[in-house]
Amino acid sequence: MKTIYLIGFMGSGKTSVAKYVAEKLNCITVDTDQLIEENYQTTIPEIFSNYGEATFRNYEKHILQTLRTENLVVATGGGIVETEENSDWMKNHGVVIYLETSWEQIVERLQEDQSRPIWNNRQIDKQLLLQKRNEKYQKAATHQVITDGKMPDELAEEILELIKQ
Ligand code: S3P
Repeated sequence: MKTIYLIGFMGSGKTSVAKYVAEKLNCITVDTDQLIEENYQTTIPEIFSNYGEATFRNYEKHILQTLRTENLVVATGGGIVETEENSDWMKNHGVVIYLETSWEQIVERLQEDQSRPIWNNRQIDKQLLLQKRNEKYQKAATHQVITDGKMPDELAEEILELIKQ
């Protein structure tokens, strides 16, 4: 099986869905944000505040390219598609699933969140960012699922059906 990359905006459920997909396929799952923190021995908010977004994007690109391209389910960071090379990489090496989520649902899920630098940056219009990224996610994806009102387990089933075809 080719590696499955889950992409989508912050709060679209990539990490939870990835766990279910991996469980059903009996393979392992990794999360690029978690790997960045482990590899660089720091936290994502620290990377953003100490070195800025560009450095984070370099780390993210590096980690993505170190992952194996078979028998793996990858939960990516919401901004992975900001680097075009990442979108090309994922498409060339595996199956890319876009977890499409409405703005309303994202707001509901991330209301209390304090851990995401982009989400917590008041100078960024997140709704506009979602609109802009939506195009990039669609372009990068081989398949797409709508997550609104669905449980991670249900979404994992939907994804398995999609990739079987
Ligand atoms: C980001 C999303 C985060 C994380 C970082 C930047 C973004 O991942 O990679 O804070 O630019 O949307 P999640 O999508 O897992 O929150």
